[in-house]
Amino acid sequence: MKYPYRLSFKKTLEIREDGPDLLIMRSSGSALRMKNPSPGVRELLNTLHGTQQTEDGLCNLFTAREGAFQTAKFWYYLEQFEDKGFLSRGVILDDHCGCTLIPVSSGFKFTEVAIAPDKKFVLSRFAYCRNHDGRMVIESPLGHAKLEIGSKGAALMAELATATSIFGISQKFKWGKAEIHAFFTLLLNMKALEARPMDEADGAQKTALAQWDFHDLLFHTRSRAGRHNTPMGGTFRFLEKIDPLPALKPKMPGKRIVLFKPDIEMLIKEDLPFTQVLETRQSIREYSQNWQTPLTIDQVGEFLFRSARVKSIHDPDPKRGSYYQSTTRPSPGSGAMHGLELYPLINECDGIDPGLYHYDPMDHELCLVSGPTKHTEKLLDQACMASALQYEPGLLFLLTARFQRTSWKYESIAYSVMLKDLGALYQTLYLVATAMGLAPCAIGAGDSDLFASAAGLAYYVETTIGEFLLGSRGA
Ligand SMILES: Cc1cc2nc3c(=O)[nH]c(=O)nc-3n(C[C@H](O)[C@H](O)[C@H](O)COP(=O)(O)O)c2cc1C
Repeated sequence: MKYPYRLSFKKTLEIREDGPDLLIMRSSGSALRMKNPSPGVRELLNTLHGTQQTEDGLCNLFTAREGAFQTAKFWYYLEQFEDKGFLSRGVILDDHCGCTLIPVSSGFKFTEVAIAPDKKFVLSRFAYCRNHDGRMVIESPLGHAKLEIGSKGAALMAELATATSIFGISQKFKWGKAEIHAFFTLLLNMKALEARPMDEADGAQKTALAQWDFHDLLFHTRSRAGRHNTPMGGTFRFLEKIDPLPALKPKMPGKRIVLFKPDIEMLIKEDLPFTQVLETRQSIREYSQNWQTPLTIDQVGEFLFRSARVKSIHDPDPKRGSYYQSTTRPSPGSGAMHGLELYPLINECDGIDPGLYHYDPMDHELCLVSGPTKHTEKLLDQACMASALQYEPGLLFLLTARFQRTSWKYESIAYSVMLKDLGALYQTLYLVATAMGLAPCAIGAGDSDLFASAAGLAYYVETTIGEFLLGSRGA
Protein backbone atom coordinates (compact mmCIF):
# COMPACT_ATOMS: atom_id res chain seq x y z
CA MET A 1 0.00 0.00 0.00
CA LYS A 2 1.19 3.54 -0.80
CA TYR A 3 2.45 5.33 2.31
CA PRO A 4 0.45 8.51 3.13
CA TYR A 5 3.34 11.04 3.22
CA ARG A 6 2.44 14.42 4.73
CA LEU A 7 2.95 16.96 1.94
CA SER A 8 3.64 20.66 2.39
CA PHE A 9 5.38 23.46 0.53
CA LYS A 10 9.06 24.05 1.31
CA LYS A 11 9.53 26.95 3.69
CA THR A 12 11.72 28.69 1.12
CA LEU A 13 8.92 28.75 -1.48
CA GLU A 14 7.84 32.30 -2.31
CA ILE A 15 4.27 32.86 -3.48
CA ARG A 16 3.27 36.31 -4.64
CA GLU A 17 0.37 37.88 -6.47
CA ASP A 18 1.40 39.77 -9.59
CA GLY A 19 -1.62 41.88 -10.50
CA PRO A 20 -5.26 40.81 -10.01
CA ASP A 21 -5.10 37.43 -11.78
CA LEU A 22 -1.51 36.22 -11.81
CA LEU A 23 0.22 34.21 -9.11
CA ILE A 24 3.95 33.47 -9.18
CA MET A 25 5.60 30.68 -7.18
CA ARG A 26 9.38 30.53 -6.95
CA SER A 27 11.96 28.34 -5.21
CA SER A 28 15.49 26.97 -5.79
CA GLY A 29 15.77 28.27 -9.33
CA SER A 30 12.35 27.07 -10.56
CA ALA A 31 9.17 29.09 -10.95
CA LEU A 32 5.53 28.51 -11.77
CA ARG A 33 3.08 31.14 -13.04
CA MET A 34 -0.62 30.57 -12.55
CA LYS A 35 -3.27 32.65 -14.30
CA ASN A 36 -6.60 33.06 -12.51
CA PRO A 37 -6.15 30.27 -9.95
CA SER A 38 -9.54 28.73 -9.11
CA PRO A 39 -10.86 28.59 -5.49
CA GLY A 40 -9.82 24.93 -5.24
CA VAL A 41 -6.27 25.78 -6.32
CA ARG A 42 -6.13 28.64 -3.79
CA GLU A 43 -7.33 26.25 -1.07
CA LEU A 44 -4.62 23.79 -2.14
CA LEU A 45 -1.96 26.51 -1.96
CA ASN A 46 -3.10 27.73 1.46
CA THR A 47 -3.15 24.23 2.91
CA LEU A 48 0.25 23.27 1.52
CA HIS A 49 1.72 26.58 2.66
CA GLY A 50 0.99 26.22 6.34
CA THR A 51 0.25 22.59 7.17
CA GLN A 52 1.21 19.04 6.33
CA GLN A 53 -1.49 17.03 4.62
CA THR A 54 -1.72 13.65 2.88
CA GLU A 55 -2.49 13.42 -0.84
CA ASP A 56 -5.94 12.02 -0.04
CA GLY A 57 -6.63 14.84 2.43
CA LEU A 58 -5.57 17.43 -0.16
CA CYS A 59 -7.66 15.80 -2.86
CA ASN A 60 -10.73 15.87 -0.59
CA LEU A 61 -10.23 19.57 0.15
CA PHE A 62 -9.82 20.31 -3.55
CA THR A 63 -12.82 18.34 -4.75
CA ALA A 64 -14.98 19.80 -1.97
CA ARG A 65 -14.37 23.19 -3.63
CA GLU A 66 -14.25 22.19 -7.29
CA GLY A 67 -16.53 19.17 -7.48
CA ALA A 68 -15.86 15.42 -7.27
CA PHE A 69 -15.30 15.16 -11.05
CA GLN A 70 -12.23 17.45 -10.81
CA THR A 71 -9.71 14.93 -9.36
CA ALA A 72 -7.69 14.91 -12.61
CA LYS A 73 -7.19 18.68 -12.20
CA PHE A 74 -5.99 18.10 -8.61
CA TRP A 75 -3.41 15.52 -9.73
CA TYR A 76 -2.29 17.82 -12.51
CA TYR A 77 -1.47 20.63 -10.03
CA LEU A 78 0.17 18.30 -7.55
CA GLU A 79 2.42 16.96 -10.30
CA GLN A 80 3.36 20.52 -11.30
CA PHE A 81 4.40 21.32 -7.70
CA GLU A 82 6.34 18.07 -7.52
CA ASP A 83 8.14 18.67 -10.82
CA LYS A 84 9.19 22.15 -9.72
CA GLY A 85 10.63 20.75 -6.48
CA PHE A 86 8.20 22.77 -4.29
CA LEU A 87 6.98 19.89 -2.10
CA SER A 88 8.36 18.49 1.17
CA ARG A 89 7.37 15.01 2.34
CA GLY A 90 6.94 14.07 5.98
CA VAL A 91 6.81 10.73 7.72
CA ILE A 92 5.21 10.40 11.15
CA LEU A 93 7.30 8.08 13.30
CA ASP A 94 5.36 8.55 16.50
CA ASP A 95 2.49 10.82 17.34
CA HIS A 96 4.38 13.77 15.85
CA CYS A 97 6.22 14.21 12.56
CA GLY A 98 9.48 12.23 12.61
CA CYS A 99 11.21 13.63 9.56
CA THR A 100 10.66 15.71 6.44
CA LEU A 101 12.39 15.41 3.08
CA ILE A 102 13.03 18.79 1.43
CA PRO A 103 14.29 19.11 -2.17
CA VAL A 104 17.26 21.50 -2.50
CA SER A 105 17.40 21.69 -6.28
CA SER A 106 15.10 21.40 -9.24
CA GLY A 107 17.07 18.23 -10.10
CA PHE A 108 15.24 16.34 -7.35
CA LYS A 109 12.61 13.78 -8.35
CA PHE A 110 10.89 11.68 -5.71
CA THR A 111 10.46 7.99 -6.52
CA GLU A 112 8.63 5.31 -4.57
CA VAL A 113 10.81 2.25 -3.92
CA ALA A 114 9.83 -1.25 -2.95
CA ILE A 115 12.19 -2.40 -0.20
CA ALA A 116 12.25 -6.01 1.02
CA PRO A 117 11.92 -5.97 4.86
CA ASP A 118 15.11 -8.03 5.31
CA LYS A 119 17.24 -6.07 2.82
CA LYS A 120 20.10 -4.36 4.66
CA PHE A 121 21.22 -0.75 4.32
CA VAL A 122 23.92 1.39 5.89
CA LEU A 123 24.24 5.17 6.15
CA SER A 124 26.43 6.50 3.32
CA ARG A 125 29.84 7.85 4.41
CA PHE A 126 28.92 11.05 2.56
CA ALA A 127 25.81 11.73 4.70
CA TYR A 128 26.19 14.09 7.65
CA CYS A 129 24.08 15.69 10.30
CA ARG A 130 24.16 19.35 11.36
CA ASN A 131 22.21 22.08 13.10
CA HIS A 132 20.68 24.30 10.41
CA ASP A 133 18.68 27.28 11.72
CA GLY A 134 17.66 25.40 14.86
CA ARG A 135 16.71 22.18 13.06
CA MET A 136 18.66 18.95 12.83
CA VAL A 137 19.23 18.09 9.16
CA ILE A 138 20.82 15.20 7.31
CA GLU A 139 22.51 16.25 4.08
CA SER A 140 24.69 14.54 1.51
CA PRO A 141 26.68 15.82 -1.47
CA LEU A 142 25.34 12.81 -3.40
CA GLY A 143 21.71 13.93 -3.27
CA HIS A 144 19.41 16.75 -4.29
CA ALA A 145 17.38 16.85 -1.06
CA LYS A 146 17.91 17.17 2.70
CA LEU A 147 16.08 15.53 5.57
CA GLU A 148 14.94 17.36 8.69
CA ILE A 149 14.80 14.97 11.61
CA GLY A 150 13.59 14.98 15.20
CA SER A 151 14.82 12.84 18.07
CA LYS A 152 13.14 9.67 16.73
CA GLY A 153 14.69 10.16 13.32
CA ALA A 154 18.07 10.77 14.99
CA ALA A 155 17.76 7.48 16.92
CA LEU A 156 17.04 5.71 13.67
CA MET A 157 20.00 7.35 11.92
CA ALA A 158 22.29 6.12 14.71
CA GLU A 159 21.11 2.55 14.07
CA LEU A 160 22.08 2.95 10.40
CA ALA A 161 25.78 3.40 11.24
CA THR A 162 25.94 -0.37 10.78
CA ALA A 163 23.99 -2.35 8.17
CA THR A 164 20.41 -3.00 9.23
CA SER A 165 17.01 -3.69 7.66
CA ILE A 166 13.43 -2.50 8.08
CA PHE A 167 12.87 -5.72 9.98
CA GLY A 168 15.92 -5.09 12.21
CA ILE A 169 14.74 -1.57 13.08
CA SER A 170 11.17 -2.70 13.75
CA GLN A 171 12.49 -5.30 16.22
CA LYS A 172 14.30 -2.59 18.15
CA PHE A 173 11.76 0.28 18.03
CA LYS A 174 8.01 0.23 18.27
CA TRP A 175 7.32 2.03 14.98
CA GLY A 176 5.31 0.31 12.27
CA LYS A 177 7.07 -1.28 9.29
CA ALA A 178 5.21 1.08 6.92
CA GLU A 179 6.72 4.13 8.69
CA ILE A 180 10.20 2.64 8.70
CA HIS A 181 9.81 1.72 5.01
CA ALA A 182 8.77 5.33 4.29
CA PHE A 183 11.74 6.66 6.29
CA PHE A 184 14.12 4.40 4.34
CA THR A 185 12.47 5.58 1.10
CA LEU A 186 13.17 9.22 2.01
CA LEU A 187 16.81 8.42 2.84
CA LEU A 188 17.19 6.51 -0.43
CA ASN A 189 15.69 9.44 -2.33
CA MET A 190 18.36 11.77 -0.91
CA LYS A 191 21.05 9.14 -1.55
CA ALA A 192 21.97 8.83 2.11
CA LEU A 193 21.69 5.03 2.21
CA GLU A 194 23.72 2.30 0.56
CA ALA A 195 22.42 -1.23 0.11
CA ARG A 196 24.46 -4.07 1.64
CA PRO A 197 25.56 -5.91 -0.42
CA MET A 198 25.82 -3.03 -2.85
CA ASP A 199 23.26 -2.85 -5.67
CA GLU A 200 24.65 -3.36 -9.17
CA ALA A 201 23.80 0.22 -10.22
CA ASP A 202 25.72 1.63 -7.20
CA GLY A 203 28.61 -0.75 -7.91
CA ALA A 204 29.22 0.97 -11.26
CA GLN A 205 29.84 4.27 -9.44
CA LYS A 206 31.91 2.65 -6.71
CA THR A 207 35.34 3.18 -8.24
CA ALA A 208 34.68 6.87 -8.93
CA LEU A 209 33.17 7.56 -5.51
CA ALA A 210 35.86 5.59 -3.66
CA GLN A 211 38.34 8.22 -4.87
CA TRP A 212 36.35 11.15 -3.48
CA ASP A 213 37.05 12.22 0.10
CA PHE A 214 33.89 13.18 1.99
CA HIS A 215 35.05 16.78 2.51
CA ASP A 216 36.27 17.20 -1.09
CA LEU A 217 32.92 16.14 -2.57
CA LEU A 218 31.03 18.32 -0.12
CA PHE A 219 33.27 21.29 -0.95
CA HIS A 220 32.85 20.64 -4.68
CA THR A 221 29.07 20.41 -4.56
CA ARG A 222 28.66 23.42 -2.27
CA SER A 223 30.97 25.68 -4.25
CA ARG A 224 29.26 24.88 -7.55
CA ALA A 225 25.60 25.30 -8.49
CA GLY A 226 23.32 22.28 -8.88
CA ARG A 227 23.01 20.48 -5.54
CA HIS A 228 22.07 23.13 -3.03
CA ASN A 229 19.76 26.09 -2.74
CA THR A 230 21.96 28.48 -0.79
CA PRO A 231 22.73 31.86 -2.38
CA MET A 232 25.90 31.78 -4.48
CA GLY A 233 28.42 34.21 -5.89
CA GLY A 234 28.91 37.92 -5.23
CA THR A 235 25.92 38.41 -2.90
CA PHE A 236 27.54 41.07 -0.65
CA ARG A 237 25.68 39.57 2.32
CA PHE A 238 27.66 41.67 4.84
CA LEU A 239 27.18 45.00 3.06
CA GLU A 240 26.25 47.67 5.64
CA LYS A 241 26.65 45.10 8.44
CA ILE A 242 30.41 44.61 8.54
CA ASP A 243 33.01 46.84 6.89
CA PRO A 244 34.96 45.13 4.09
CA LEU A 245 38.66 44.55 4.78
CA PRO A 246 40.88 47.11 3.05
CA ALA A 247 42.70 46.09 -0.13
CA LEU A 248 46.00 46.30 1.74
CA LYS A 249 46.79 44.49 4.95
CA PRO A 250 47.50 47.13 7.63
CA LYS A 251 51.23 47.73 7.97
CA MET A 252 52.97 45.36 10.37
CA PRO A 253 55.23 46.87 13.05
CA GLY A 254 58.58 45.13 12.30
CA LYS A 255 61.81 46.46 10.78
CA ARG A 256 61.38 47.28 7.07
CA ILE A 257 63.64 46.60 4.07
CA VAL A 258 63.22 48.67 0.90
CA LEU A 259 63.45 46.42 -2.16
CA PHE A 260 64.96 46.94 -5.58
CA LYS A 261 62.55 47.84 -8.40
CA PRO A 262 63.42 46.55 -11.86
CA ASP A 263 62.98 48.71 -14.94
CA ILE A 264 59.76 47.28 -16.40
CA GLU A 265 60.04 49.32 -19.63
CA MET A 266 63.47 47.85 -20.26
CA LEU A 267 62.23 44.33 -19.43
CA ILE A 268 59.37 44.73 -21.93
CA LYS A 269 62.02 45.33 -24.62
CA GLU A 270 64.77 42.97 -23.52
CA ASP A 271 63.26 40.14 -21.48
CA LEU A 272 63.10 36.53 -22.71
CA PRO A 273 60.27 36.09 -25.26
CA PHE A 274 56.99 34.97 -23.67
CA THR A 275 56.89 31.66 -25.54
CA GLN A 276 60.42 30.84 -24.44
CA VAL A 277 59.42 31.48 -20.81
CA LEU A 278 56.26 29.37 -21.17
CA GLU A 279 58.07 26.53 -22.93
CA THR A 280 60.99 26.37 -20.50
CA ARG A 281 58.98 26.79 -17.30
CA GLN A 282 59.43 23.82 -15.01
CA SER A 283 59.54 22.93 -11.34
CA ILE A 284 63.15 22.88 -10.26
CA ARG A 285 64.11 21.24 -6.98
CA GLU A 286 67.89 21.37 -7.32
CA TYR A 287 69.76 24.50 -6.36
CA SER A 288 73.19 25.93 -7.13
CA GLN A 289 75.77 23.57 -5.65
CA ASN A 290 74.86 23.61 -2.00
CA TRP A 291 74.56 27.36 -1.69
CA GLN A 292 77.68 28.60 -3.42
CA THR A 293 75.41 31.08 -5.23
CA PRO A 294 72.58 32.15 -2.94
CA LEU A 295 69.68 34.35 -4.01
CA THR A 296 70.40 38.07 -3.71
CA ILE A 297 68.29 40.84 -2.21
CA ASP A 298 67.94 42.41 -5.67
CA GLN A 299 66.67 39.14 -7.14
CA VAL A 300 64.08 38.94 -4.35
CA GLY A 301 63.09 42.56 -5.07
CA GLU A 302 62.85 42.00 -8.79
CA PHE A 303 60.92 38.75 -8.35
CA LEU A 304 58.32 40.29 -6.02
CA PHE A 305 57.95 43.46 -8.09
CA ARG A 306 57.33 41.51 -11.27
CA SER A 307 54.95 38.98 -9.75
CA ALA A 308 53.07 40.48 -6.80
CA ARG A 309 53.24 44.28 -6.48
CA VAL A 310 50.19 46.55 -6.49
CA LYS A 311 50.06 48.30 -9.85
CA SER A 312 47.05 50.51 -9.05
CA ILE A 313 44.57 50.99 -6.22
CA HIS A 314 40.94 52.08 -6.53
CA ASP A 315 38.58 53.43 -3.89
CA PRO A 316 35.03 52.12 -3.57
CA ASP A 317 32.45 53.82 -5.75
CA PRO A 318 29.00 52.57 -4.62
CA LYS A 319 27.20 54.62 -7.29
CA ARG A 320 28.93 52.46 -9.89
CA GLY A 321 28.35 49.22 -7.98
CA SER A 322 31.85 49.06 -6.50
CA TYR A 323 31.53 48.59 -2.73
CA TYR A 324 35.13 47.90 -1.75
CA GLN A 325 38.64 49.09 -2.39
CA SER A 326 40.33 47.12 -5.18
CA THR A 327 43.79 46.79 -6.73
CA THR A 328 45.37 45.56 -9.92
CA ARG A 329 48.45 43.33 -9.75
CA PRO A 330 50.40 41.17 -12.23
CA SER A 331 48.13 38.17 -11.45
CA PRO A 332 44.38 38.15 -12.04
CA GLY A 333 42.31 38.08 -8.83
CA SER A 334 38.59 37.44 -8.42
CA GLY A 335 36.68 40.73 -8.12
CA ALA A 336 40.08 42.54 -8.04
CA MET A 337 39.95 41.77 -4.28
CA HIS A 338 43.43 40.17 -4.07
CA GLY A 339 42.98 38.74 -0.58
CA LEU A 340 46.27 36.80 -0.76
CA GLU A 341 49.44 37.86 1.10
CA LEU A 342 53.02 36.73 0.57
CA TYR A 343 55.32 35.96 3.50
CA PRO A 344 58.91 35.24 2.35
CA LEU A 345 60.70 32.96 4.80
CA ILE A 346 64.33 33.80 4.08
CA ASN A 347 66.69 30.93 4.71
CA GLU A 348 69.74 32.02 2.73
CA CYS A 349 69.85 35.28 0.80
CA ASP A 350 72.69 37.67 0.08
CA GLY A 351 71.60 40.97 1.68
CA ILE A 352 68.61 39.82 3.79
CA ASP A 353 68.95 38.31 7.25
CA PRO A 354 67.23 34.94 7.74
CA GLY A 355 63.72 35.23 9.15
CA LEU A 356 60.04 35.47 8.33
CA TYR A 357 58.95 38.63 6.49
CA HIS A 358 55.71 40.07 5.14
CA TYR A 359 55.75 41.55 1.64
CA ASP A 360 54.14 44.99 1.45
CA PRO A 361 52.96 44.99 -2.19
CA MET A 362 52.12 48.71 -2.23
CA ASP A 363 55.41 50.14 -0.94
CA HIS A 364 57.41 47.18 -2.27
CA GLU A 365 59.10 46.54 1.07
CA LEU A 366 59.71 43.58 3.33
CA CYS A 367 58.63 43.83 6.94
CA LEU A 368 60.26 41.55 9.52
CA VAL A 369 57.71 39.35 11.30
CA SER A 370 60.20 37.22 13.26
CA GLY A 371 63.75 35.96 13.15
CA PRO A 372 64.36 32.21 12.73
CA THR A 373 62.42 30.21 15.32
CA LYS A 374 61.54 26.57 15.98
CA HIS A 375 58.33 27.21 14.01
CA THR A 376 60.06 28.69 10.94
CA GLU A 377 62.62 25.85 11.01
CA LYS A 378 59.75 23.35 10.96
CA LEU A 379 58.05 25.16 8.08
CA LEU A 380 61.25 24.84 6.04
CA ASP A 381 61.65 21.14 6.99
CA GLN A 382 58.09 20.40 5.91
CA ALA A 383 58.53 22.17 2.56
CA CYS A 384 61.74 20.19 1.94
CA MET A 385 59.92 16.94 2.73
CA ALA A 386 56.97 17.84 0.47
CA SER A 387 59.30 18.36 -2.47
CA ALA A 388 61.99 15.80 -1.60
CA LEU A 389 64.71 18.49 -1.58
CA GLN A 390 68.30 17.55 -0.80
CA TYR A 391 69.22 21.08 0.23
CA GLU A 392 67.06 23.64 1.94
CA PRO A 393 65.73 26.33 -0.43
CA GLY A 394 66.93 29.92 -0.20
CA LEU A 395 63.39 31.13 0.15
CA LEU A 396 60.04 29.64 1.02
CA PHE A 397 56.97 31.77 0.26
CA LEU A 398 54.10 31.22 2.66
CA LEU A 399 50.97 32.33 0.84
CA THR A 400 48.08 33.30 3.07
CA ALA A 401 44.48 34.34 2.52
CA ARG A 402 42.86 37.15 4.49
CA PHE A 403 39.70 35.05 4.44
CA GLN A 404 37.14 37.76 5.24
CA ARG A 405 38.41 39.94 2.39
CA THR A 406 36.83 37.45 -0.05
CA SER A 407 33.98 36.01 2.04
CA TRP A 408 32.62 39.54 2.65
CA LYS A 409 31.63 39.59 -1.01
CA TYR A 410 31.30 35.97 -2.11
CA GLU A 411 28.90 33.46 -0.63
CA SER A 412 29.19 29.68 -0.92
CA ILE A 413 32.17 29.96 -3.33
CA ALA A 414 34.52 32.15 -1.24
CA TYR A 415 37.10 29.50 -0.37
CA SER A 416 37.10 27.98 -3.84
CA VAL A 417 37.68 31.49 -5.24
CA MET A 418 40.69 31.92 -2.93
CA LEU A 419 42.18 28.64 -4.21
CA LYS A 420 41.59 29.76 -7.81
CA ASP A 421 43.35 33.05 -7.04
CA LEU A 422 46.20 31.03 -5.58
CA GLY A 423 46.46 28.93 -8.77
CA ALA A 424 46.71 32.12 -10.83
CA LEU A 425 49.40 33.47 -8.49
CA TYR A 426 51.36 30.20 -8.61
CA GLN A 427 51.56 30.45 -12.39
CA THR A 428 52.72 34.07 -12.24
CA LEU A 429 55.42 33.13 -9.70
CA TYR A 430 56.52 30.24 -11.94
CA LEU A 431 56.73 32.40 -15.06
CA VAL A 432 58.62 35.26 -13.42
CA ALA A 433 61.08 32.82 -11.79
CA THR A 434 61.65 31.18 -15.19
CA ALA A 435 62.21 34.53 -16.90
CA MET A 436 64.75 35.38 -14.17
CA GLY A 437 66.57 32.01 -14.42
CA LEU A 438 65.61 31.00 -10.86
CA ALA A 439 64.44 27.64 -9.48
CA PRO A 440 60.69 27.64 -8.65
CA CYS A 441 58.47 24.90 -7.24
CA ALA A 442 54.88 25.03 -5.92
CA ILE A 443 54.03 22.99 -2.84
CA GLY A 444 50.65 21.28 -2.52
CA ALA A 445 50.25 20.91 1.24
CA GLY A 446 51.46 22.73 4.32
CA ASP A 447 50.61 23.26 7.98
CA SER A 448 48.35 26.30 8.36
CA ASP A 449 48.26 26.02 12.16
CA LEU A 450 52.04 26.02 12.33
CA PHE A 451 52.24 29.10 10.11
CA ALA A 452 49.60 30.95 12.16
CA SER A 453 51.75 30.28 15.26
CA ALA A 454 54.97 31.29 13.46
CA ALA A 455 53.48 34.61 12.32
CA GLY A 456 51.27 35.27 15.35
CA LEU A 457 48.09 35.29 13.22
CA ALA A 458 44.56 34.20 14.14
CA TYR A 459 43.81 31.01 12.19
CA TYR A 460 40.26 32.01 11.14
CA VAL A 461 41.38 35.49 10.08
CA GLU A 462 44.49 34.78 8.05
CA THR A 463 46.71 31.79 7.47
CA THR A 464 48.40 29.84 4.69
CA ILE A 465 46.55 28.23 1.80
CA GLY A 466 49.71 27.51 -0.21
CA GLU A 467 53.51 27.48 -0.30
CA PHE A 468 56.08 28.14 -3.02
CA LEU A 469 59.83 27.44 -3.09
CA LEU A 470 62.35 29.67 -4.78
CA GLY A 471 66.06 29.03 -5.09
CA SER A 472 69.06 29.98 -7.10
CA ARG A 473 70.14 27.88 -10.06
CA GLY A 474 73.62 29.34 -9.86
CA ALA A 475 75.70 30.16 -12.90
C1 LIG B 1 49.14 23.23 -7.03
C2 LIG B 1 50.50 22.55 -7.17
C3 LIG B 1 51.01 21.85 -6.10
C4 LIG B 1 52.28 21.26 -6.19
N1 LIG B 1 52.79 20.62 -5.11
C5 LIG B 1 54.03 20.10 -5.16
C6 LIG B 1 54.63 19.52 -4.00
O1 LIG B 1 54.03 19.48 -2.93
N2 LIG B 1 55.88 19.02 -4.11
C7 LIG B 1 56.58 19.07 -5.27
O2 LIG B 1 57.70 18.61 -5.29
N3 LIG B 1 56.02 19.63 -6.40
C8 LIG B 1 54.79 20.16 -6.35
N4 LIG B 1 54.25 20.76 -7.46
C9 LIG B 1 54.99 20.80 -8.70
C10 LIG B 1 54.47 19.70 -9.63
O3 LIG B 1 54.95 18.45 -9.17
C11 LIG B 1 54.94 19.98 -11.05
O4 LIG B 1 54.32 21.15 -11.52
C12 LIG B 1 54.61 18.82 -11.99
O5 LIG B 1 55.35 17.67 -11.66
C13 LIG B 1 54.88 19.17 -13.43
O6 LIG B 1 56.25 19.52 -13.57
P1 LIG B 1 56.68 20.95 -14.12
O7 LIG B 1 56.20 21.98 -13.17
O8 LIG B 1 58.18 20.87 -14.14
O9 LIG B 1 56.07 21.11 -15.47
C14 LIG B 1 53.02 21.36 -7.40
C15 LIG B 1 52.47 22.08 -8.48
C16 LIG B 1 51.24 22.67 -8.37
C17 LIG B 1 50.68 23.46 -9.53
